[in-house]
Amino acid sequence: MSIFRTKSIEQSLEDSEAPGHRLRRRLSALDLTVFGVGVIVGTGIFVLTGQVARETAGPAVALSFVAAGVACALAALCYAEFASTVPVAGSAYTFSYATIGEFPAWIVGWDLMLELALGAAVVAVGWSGYLTELLSALGIHLPPALAGEHATFNVPAVFVVLALTAVLVAGIKLSARLNLVVVAVKVAVILLVIVAGLFFVKGANYTPFVPPAQQTDAVHGLKAPLIQVLFGITPVAYGVLGVFVGAAVVFFAFIGFDVVATAAEETRRPQRDLPIGIIASLTICTVLYVAVSLVVVGMQPYGELNRAAPLAGAFRAVGQDWLATVISIGALAGLTTVVMILMLGQSRIFFAMSRDRLLPTGLAAVHPRFGTPYRITVIIGVATALLAGFVPLSALAELVNIGTLFAFVLVSAGVVILRRTRPELPRAFRTPLVPLVPALSILACLYLMLNLPVETWLRFLIWMALGTVLYFAYGRRRSRVEDQPPPVRAR
Ligand code: ALA
Repeated sequence: MSIFRTKSIEQSLEDSEAPGHRLRRRLSALDLTVFGVGVIVGTGIFVLTGQVARETAGPAVALSFVAAGVACALAALCYAEFASTVPVAGSAYTFSYATIGEFPAWIVGWDLMLELALGAAVVAVGWSGYLTELLSALGIHLPPALAGEHATFNVPAVFVVLALTAVLVAGIKLSARLNLVVVAVKVAVILLVIVAGLFFVKGANYTPFVPPAQQTDAVHGLKAPLIQVLFGITPVAYGVLGVFVGAAVVFFAFIGFDVVATAAEETRRPQRDLPIGIIASLTICTVLYVAVSLVVVGMQPYGELNRAAPLAGAFRAVGQDWLATVISIGALAGLTTVVMILMLGQSRIFFAMSRDRLLPTGLAAVHPRFGTPYRITVIIGVATALLAGFVPLSALAELVNIGTLFAFVLVSAGVVILRRTRPELPRAFRTPLVPLVPALSILACLYLMLNLPVETWLRFLIWMALGTVLYFAYGRRRSRVEDQPPPVRAR
């Protein structure tokens, strides 16, 4: 049996209707767009903007957002075609199974744990950091061993993950409602930053917009971007290279539009609504990000931006403390839905994998009353809570990026392959200019991956090696696709 056997799209669609494994179709295009914004806007804009402006790109951090946004838009066009053609839970995992084969599909499923479960844990730790800051502004000081970024056991992070797990088990519509409220709050806060911030912008802060490149000793050895090590370039900060190194970091801010595709089986009209949800949420967030970053670097000299909370910090710097507090509350609310929807995506991918028996099949059971894959959701919730509780995660955020970019590469390649192998399939949304757009998407993602540090690459390779071992030890032998008798040929 080949490790590159594929699972037909017809089979995937049929499986999604199997009794006991069927999810409820409750979501509309608007729900999906709100889902997308709910998961996309988070740590990236509320935290990374300041770091990247200070250390890597200067005011040109806005261009880093543009560059990362363009790479994501190319990938989003590929996801949209797939999602409209194979509207089955599992996103990149299911797409890869249909096109490249079982082993690559497993590897993508394994890889997506970096984006989703690890991503959720990283953001939960960020949430705890914001909570600690907000409470201390109110005079309540949590012990540093139990809360915040450097805790030994991070109680708020564990709490938020477990509470959100309960919401996810209780139903997709409840999750969508909670998300709607939170998204309204966080978009309002972002718009507030843009509008109120404009009053404090000083033209002088924009010059030089792209600060001249500087050699830097701050990054060396395993911390240097792979591309600079490969080509023997001495690490530089700022300049044009800095814009792209910054793009590889702020890419984190865009993660999540692809998670929309994991809700395929819960969407009423997936062929039409998934492409809308994916592309609309990405477009909205890109516009907001570029505007926010332009305003924030206009408010303060980039070297003075606050590391942990640059948006709130910029308002504090201009004497608007109450606005800073409002922004912190918005950020706290905003990060909640990021954690929730990343875990939602993770549960739907494991759900699809266990339905295919690449993971124990009992995990795919759907709750008779709630209509959600409750077992897998609880397992993911507990694992994510432990991860967020015990592991200092800020160093691992770039591992989330590389994992996501890798999935984008495979999905983009898959679009071209599926056009060749199954040209006749109805495609409600077609990626324009195939194979040019998928090829550009692959190149852009690889380029961003090369701009990540060597240590991130090493961690990524170790994780993938572990996944490979597990596939050969477990998934390969249990796979359901292997069990199927060969099709009976008509004589
Ligand atoms: N895009 C999400 C964030 O910025 C993961 O937090």
